[in-house]
Amino acid sequence: MKNNIVLIGFMGCGKTTVGEKLAKELTYAFLDTDAYIENREQKSIREIFEQDGENYFRNVETKSLQELIENTQKTIVSSGGGLPLRPENAKLLQKLGFVIYLKVDKETVLRRLEGDTTRPLLQCDDPAKRIEELLEYRDPIYEVGAHMVIQVDHKTVEEIVQEIIRNYYLFFECK
Ligand code: S3P
Repeated sequence: MKNNIVLIGFMGCGKTTVGEKLAKELTYAFLDTDAYIENREQKSIREIFEQDGENYFRNVETKSLQELIENTQKTIVSSGGGLPLRPENAKLLQKLGFVIYLKVDKETVLRRLEGDTTRPLLQCDDPAKRIEELLEYRDPIYEVGAHMVIQVDHKTVEEIVQEIIRNYYLFFECK
């Protein structure tokens, strides 16, 4: 396994906020897979979904993961919410680094993503129901794909960052 830290979890769980802070604390680089894909494809995630479809986007996610395994070290990787769902990707994520699932309740997601227009999967008549369905389906997959799970709803970013750092060092000491 490489010495990166990979954050997985549902949209709005705080992967980017936590990841940026964590990167600062550890003086690691920070990389968001959505931003990486937007740069690679020269389009926004929304445009990719609209013009090329979700399946195309998921294929680019897998290719990007393979590239990142070759090219990154000492990096905090914030991954798109749907990325760990393909079994193939779940294996690649574990190769990429120490995988942490930031687990979040649907109420928190709803509060944080109210009015959001950047997530194509939530642009529907009943986003609350959609969030509930997606979370229910995805939660066990995230759990299985992670080395560590943190319930984040009532924690500050700083608390989450410190918990990750403690466990990251413990994990590598035990190896
Ligand atoms: C998605 C999550 C998004 C982005 C895309 C699909 C998903 O990333 O990759 O809209 O399937 O959950 P964030 O989790 O960073 O919002």
